[in-house]
Amino acid sequence: MCGIVGYAGGMTACGKPLEVCMQGLSRLEYRGYDSAGVALAAPGMNLVAVRKKAGRLDNLKADLKRSPLPDATVGIGHTRWATNGEPSDTNAHPHVSADGKIAIIHNGIIENASKLKMDLQSEGYVFSSGTDTEVAAKLLGKVANTIIEETGKPDLFEALRRVARMLTGAFTILAVDCRQPDIVVGARHDSPLVVGLGEGENFLGSDVAAFVAYTKHAMEIGQDQAVCISGDQVIVTDFNGNPVKDSKRFTVDWDASAAEKGGWPSFMDKEIHEDPEAVANTLLGRFDDQGDIVLDEVHIGLDVFRQIDKIIVVACGTASYAGMVAKYAIEHWVRIPVEVELAHEFRYRDPILTPRTLVVAISQSGETMDTLMALRHAREQGSRVLAICNTQGASIPRESDAVLYTHAGPEIAVASTKAFVAQIVAAYLLGLYLAQVKGTMYRDEIRHILEQLKGMPEKIQWVLDNQAGNVEQAAKQMVNAHSFLFLGRHVGYPVALEGALKLKEIAYTFTEGFAAGELKHGPIALVDAGEPVVVIVPSARGRNILHNKVISGIEEVKARGAYTIAVAELGDPDVEQYADVVFWRPVCPTLLSPLVDVVPLQLFAMDMAQLKGYDVDKPRNLAKSVTVE
Ligand code: F6R
Repeated sequence: MCGIVGYAGGMTACGKPLEVCMQGLSRLEYRGYDSAGVALAAPGMNLVAVRKKAGRLDNLKADLKRSPLPDATVGIGHTRWATNGEPSDTNAHPHVSADGKIAIIHNGIIENASKLKMDLQSEGYVFSSGTDTEVAAKLLGKVANTIIEETGKPDLFEALRRVARMLTGAFTILAVDCRQPDIVVGARHDSPLVVGLGEGENFLGSDVAAFVAYTKHAMEIGQDQAVCISGDQVIVTDFNGNPVKDSKRFTVDWDASAAEKGGWPSFMDKEIHEDPEAVANTLLGRFDDQGDIVLDEVHIGLDVFRQIDKIIVVACGTASYAGMVAKYAIEHWVRIPVEVELAHEFRYRDPILTPRTLVVAISQSGETMDTLMALRHAREQGSRVLAICNTQGASIPRESDAVLYTHAGPEIAVASTKAFVAQIVAAYLLGLYLAQVKGTMYRDEIRHILEQLKGMPEKIQWVLDNQAGNVEQAAKQMVNAHSFLFLGRHVGYPVALEGALKLKEIAYTFTEGFAAGELKHGPIALVDAGEPVVVIVPSARGRNILHNKVISGIEEVKARGAYTIAVAELGDPDVEQYADVVFWRPVCPTLLSPLVDVVPLQLFAMDMAQLKGYDVDKPRNLAKSVTVE
């Protein structure tokens, strides 16, 4: 939600600040695409140079081409997902101080902006936008000038710290001042910020994508910390100016090319086709030659793991559906209760947490505010928190007791695809690890499941290679449907929810996903002639009782005229007589089947959106990372 980038390159940087900002914004555009802007400063400038435009980044690019900005030594850039004031040129960031000497960009929501604005207005300040960010800009300008009056020289870093102490809500703010054209300063509270460490140049970004094209060396900035970068220095302090010496450094484990389309028509298409790799990479290095699971990176003692008597998964959206899949597997393997709770509901209902509860926070971005707040609440109550996360240096892994990274690589399309399958795999690994530590399964059983897991990338690839045409055909047939129902049972239930969510968010089609057993308790009333119903059919092998029940569900909706699409196992003896279309999956164990069953549904949503002419990577009203509550 809003992408920010900052660059300080020393006195000879020339065109580089603008280049870095624009390059960074193109990689951060997935965080918000309502408007974009940049601000530059250089020695000799009397005012900061600012350019901003409503709409996609291309609008800003075109404007800069028509009328270029001057060379600079430092720069900041912003891509916006509007929370406060509609998307427009005026509301776009950067916003400037009253004297035009300071420009700021902001990610988050400043909750006391109205009060601060009234105070400033009573002092004669005039506002042109409807944003909270302009309030922070005017305030920063005022505080910066007070410091100049007090000390005789500008100190933007100190001014920003003073302002940070006055703000409530969530914010990451970056600022430049034409009187100090060698530095970019930043402050963060409940919004993301990372530093990129270069040679003779340094960077700031909402995430590493902002600067990974220039450096893979990065450093975390903690909660309530401020940072000042110049070409050759990075200084971190708390909001009172006390130095912070222990900022964690890390190396980004993916290349800039991983965040490019690389010939694919869309990021979503590319990322769905990376499902097999995401599964394989998340498994990589997580077991030894004997087949025992080794999670060295999870710094929670074995004795603590043995004591765990309950798991609560907290997550939102797609990540919560991965958590639901985990519930079926972990309860079966470890025999302890697993609750799955939407993070935004969890913290407001006084959940029962003890030191023996393990809270698992699942998040692709690692920045979802609701999930972050839920994990903070859990830790305050004395529970341990383990994060399953795809983004290094993000707030959720940083604030958790342990982290299990999904190695899906950067996910750029707003709709989550490869991260979902990677999250499920990480949760399986956690479940099997707990079973190993607690001794609830024989080692041979665990090894057998690991072997089956290792075979899953190939099965996913089979679906991609053999079912894509089938899926596209169905999408063409269904493109004018007004609504869809998705049904599933057991692990097929979260898959149905995920399939429905994908179609909603990128094809803007009204969909409802629910447990197939609920059909008779209400939803069947919605079924009318021609209504498309997608059903996830469990395997018929092993006289699976659920298979017959789900087949009866298909019969019931078919009898009422529904158009039925089934996701079913190759060789299923019953499905073809009731389903109008079948998306086939290869034979695989039931508990692992979500990894393949979701793939045709991801493709289906993408095809539907494309056929309707929508931008599948940047659906309306959505942002990749929801960093406000
Ligand atoms: C759906 C989607 C969202 C996210 C949710 C949580 O395609 O992407 O539902 O899954 O906003 O985001 P993370 O995983 O970043 O916490």
